[in-house]
Amino acid sequence: MELQQAEKKLKENGFLDVSVSDKIDYAAEIKKLKKEKNAIILAHYYQEPAIQDIADFVGDSLQLSYKAAEADADLIVFAGVHFMAETAKILNPDKKVVLPDLNAGCSLSEACEAKDLQAFKDKHPDHIVVTYVNTSADVKAISDICCTSSNAKKIIDSVPLDQPIIFAPDKNLGAYINKVTGRNMLLWEGACIVHEAFSIDKLLHTHQAHPNAKIIAHPESEAHILKTAAYIGSTSGLINYAKTDPAKEFIVATEAGILHEMQKEVPNKTLYPAPAHEDNTCACSECPYMKMNNMKKLFLCMKYELPEIHVSEAIQKKALIPIQRMLDISSQ
Ligand code: 13P
Ligand code: SF4
Repeated sequence: MELQQAEKKLKENGFLDVSVSDKIDYAAEIKKLKKEKNAIILAHYYQEPAIQDIADFVGDSLQLSYKAAEADADLIVFAGVHFMAETAKILNPDKKVVLPDLNAGCSLSEACEAKDLQAFKDKHPDHIVVTYVNTSADVKAISDICCTSSNAKKIIDSVPLDQPIIFAPDKNLGAYINKVTGRNMLLWEGACIVHEAFSIDKLLHTHQAHPNAKIIAHPESEAHILKTAAYIGSTSGLINYAKTDPAKEFIVATEAGILHEMQKEVPNKTLYPAPAHEDNTCACSECPYMKMNNMKKLFLCMKYELPEIHVSEAIQKKALIPIQRMLDISSQ
């Protein structure tokens, strides 16, 4: 009875506040549904450990885009945030794409609306627009090229030096790319709340306590955090560095979900999450959007194939152009 009521509620309110019996073995049910529905689960490194463990593929945003583009499953289940699932739909529009929680957004995507970007473009008609993939389909549809943190330098280096660029929406990634490429791109005022939460004082304190640990950081972090880092890279770049660098201890300045996969890759090394300004339960920085997904919602989303991601054909066609350009340049 409770289950039936929950299902009704679930359908009515788009999966908010569902209370399905906790006696369900979600992992077992999800595995069954994967087979029954010929589904593929793609998960980002920031997802909770149980979701990463049950996914068919775990990766950074670029790797997930490639996987989504080539997926031949009937159902693509995106365990990540909205812009990632939307990118999967744009790349593979004939597939059904579902996201466990439709409210799983992103502070970067929210900071850049298409109408505002269009107004900015109109003020700078000689500039091309490079957008980070952390944007809506509408924003991608008015962009020239997309990038992720793992290919941003390569994408910008592919643009002729005399071509002025608007870079949106991450001012921190943009400033870092300006620094490493010697460009002077116009930067949008957006930021990732998770990477802006790191405290430089607490980070230096952690480093003092573990002087042999190397600080490694995601480029969405602020410049004063990046200055302290021995290595700066995307989530997959950070995991790879921890694997290949001889150091035995690392302080990791990105969303704490990455530690699950990183620790699996380096079982004999010690990892410390970089501390955030606010004292919170994990003493680290977690993405509230990524953490909206959980096993229960993943199960429900596969069972009902809801909430589904929809992108109009007109926007899909336009948004595909900058994403495809990115994938082509990236694979060269
Ligand atoms: P990457 O996985 O591309 O490093 O991106 C990190 C991120 O913040 C995704 O939202
Ligand atoms: Fe957006 Fe930051 Fe969360 Fe990634 S970690 S989804 S960039 S808010």
